[in-house]
Amino acid sequence: MAIKIEHGVFQIETADTMYQMKVDAFGVLNHLWYGAKTGCVMDYLLDYPDVGFSGNIYEAENQRTYSLDTLPLEYASGGVGDFRVPAISVTHENGSCALDLRYQEYHIVKGKCRIPGLPAVYAADDKAETLEIVLKDTATDVIVILKYGVLEQENVITRSVVVCNQGKTPVILNRVHSLCMDIPYGDWEWIHFHGRHTKERQVERAALIHGIQESSSGRGMSSHQQNPTVLLCERNTTENYGFCMGAALLYSGGFQTQIERDQLDQTRIVMGIHPDTFAWQLEEGDSFYAPEVMLSCSDKGFAELSHRFHHVIRNNVCRGKYKLSPRPVLINNWEATYFDFNSTKIEEIARQASALGIDMMVLDDGWFGKRDSDCSGLGDWVVNEKKLQGGLGRLIGRINDLGMKFGIWMEPEMVSEDSELYRSHPEWAIRIPGRAPMRGRYQLALDMSNPEVIRYLHRVISKILRENNIEYVKWDINRSICDWYTPTLPERRQLELPHRYILGLYELLERLTGEFPDILFEGCCGGGGRFDAGMLYYCPQTWCSDDTDAHERTVIQYGTSFFYPISTVGSHVSAVPNHQTGRMTSIQARGAVAMAGSFGYELDLNTLSEEEKQEVKEQVKTYKRYQDLIYNGLYYRVCDPMAGKLSVWEFVAKDQSEVLVQGVVYRAEPNELRKRVRLTGLAEEAEYQVEGEETVYTGAALMAGGILLPEIKGDDVAIQICLKRTDR
Ligand code: DGJ
Repeated sequence: MAIKIEHGVFQIETADTMYQMKVDAFGVLNHLWYGAKTGCVMDYLLDYPDVGFSGNIYEAENQRTYSLDTLPLEYASGGVGDFRVPAISVTHENGSCALDLRYQEYHIVKGKCRIPGLPAVYAADDKAETLEIVLKDTATDVIVILKYGVLEQENVITRSVVVCNQGKTPVILNRVHSLCMDIPYGDWEWIHFHGRHTKERQVERAALIHGIQESSSGRGMSSHQQNPTVLLCERNTTENYGFCMGAALLYSGGFQTQIERDQLDQTRIVMGIHPDTFAWQLEEGDSFYAPEVMLSCSDKGFAELSHRFHHVIRNNVCRGKYKLSPRPVLINNWEATYFDFNSTKIEEIARQASALGIDMMVLDDGWFGKRDSDCSGLGDWVVNEKKLQGGLGRLIGRINDLGMKFGIWMEPEMVSEDSELYRSHPEWAIRIPGRAPMRGRYQLALDMSNPEVIRYLHRVISKILRENNIEYVKWDINRSICDWYTPTLPERRQLELPHRYILGLYELLERLTGEFPDILFEGCCGGGGRFDAGMLYYCPQTWCSDDTDAHERTVIQYGTSFFYPISTVGSHVSAVPNHQTGRMTSIQARGAVAMAGSFGYELDLNTLSEEEKQEVKEQVKTYKRYQDLIYNGLYYRVCDPMAGKLSVWEFVAKDQSEVLVQGVVYRAEPNELRKRVRLTGLAEEAEYQVEGEETVYTGAALMAGGILLPEIKGDDVAIQICLKRTDR
């Protein structure tokens, strides 16, 4: 039993971690612990200082030392004397905003809880348990249910929240975070992942300052600019040492992570839907379901924590035929042709690709409606016969005849003003009456909260997928969303739209992925602007970034790897000079970097020299040979690319029998020693041999002394070394 309740103490134990809470004499649920197992009830850490201007609840009478403002609370509410950042805030019918949550009861449920309309971690009923703790406001009939899903072997605990209005009058939810955790002690640093279009998930680590620090998106999507994941760690935590905990939100809309270091140096973290673009009216009897957060922690550093997230995302979040199986090596025509193509050009690319062993041709943007640039056509999901004479069926037939699968690009959530769809349904675009809308890439967003829009999209997309042998869909979205307004909701409920948009998107994806279980869906948002665990529930991979430069990608993929498994990272070899940076990198470096992901190409192979084509052929073979190790092995970040010299990573088979070391050395320097990297995750006593070499090393030597890299000449030099265990 992972969940135990004794003397008001709730204890959740996973294989290596422990989570504790306790109901106190006033019915307040205190957070006691999240970390390594201690074998002890951690309530001895609770302290009750008399802090000026931190008020006391009425029932505490003359005890000036009992304050909601200083105690570690499990779920903090606004308006009742805890002046730190709240997890929940409401407005009652009379305009007041207080919510004083006290313990009512608990339930333990077999299996892992699901959330209506939202993605959630799943598990077989005998592999997970759910704890529900019911809290109630002292003065109204607002009920808050805290849900804890426990995946014991995976060392993962999920948190989500349900708010129910059991009163007679409406209540407005202004904020309802999915995670709230107070940590009274510790000198913490946080790591978050910031960036911009073509530069996603840059790692930033900083000591907590007093006050609130935030990572968030108000863009209607999880965004390029911040990611809905966060790490808290001790100052001395490294890849292989020290305590750290991580939280990942399964949600693709606007989000907010706030961390407050308070007057007593205590830390509070909250995470959930961004409150600036959210409000929800709960009528009598209504419930609101907040999205789920996955939590894990490790006292052995970031590598182990990443392994836990990689494992749970791959096994308990991703779904469908391709969840665990090898993905086809694909070629995408976007950077080869942009909008300028016809069937002959696509077939030529495919013919060359098939000769080099590539499995699938993906036709990107521009195949539908009137779409010769990004100014028009979105919404008209009907083939453009001027470009594809004979239609999709004919093209797909020819691609299939080459022995290749066929995949297609779509951007279903968007509409161009210059489109048949917009001309017939202008009211389906999100815009505010009487105001000029903001355009992004010349386009408007469709109102995904409107069931008619979902019906239309379902009809046209399922028709295309039913009538054609399409085995992959790239699901793109290319603008941030604002101008939130929908004619389908009354005025006072307009702030429900951003969340209803995401619910509509998830409903559509759920239907399509359910009806077409053999199609591989890849999420995309101008590259990696919606790389989140919510999208991975529907699409087991995401296009990592529109920046395909191998050098830049080492940094983007490094940040991405803290939470997201390598199989979820769409990664391609593209042309040089690189279209985003103008940088020249060798085909070997581009190959090594793209192989740390779900691999493909994005260039016109016909423009390559014979030598380069041979290299592509070898790369495809190499990738297929190592794909199982890349997907199922343990991934280690061996060198920090932010240090500026080199980026090296490593895949180690779970039985430690095989190791693939890959990377890029950024610059050769004159008169230098050969570079050395210390490997990790090997069996100390085992013997390993580099493929193609005689020398045998012990695992201990490779981890303590390291391995010498070949002599480097030039810039962005590829590293690819395979070691095999030879002692058994
Ligand atoms: C943005 C994507 O990230 C690109 O790969 C490409 O599909 C374009 N959209 C097409 O418009």
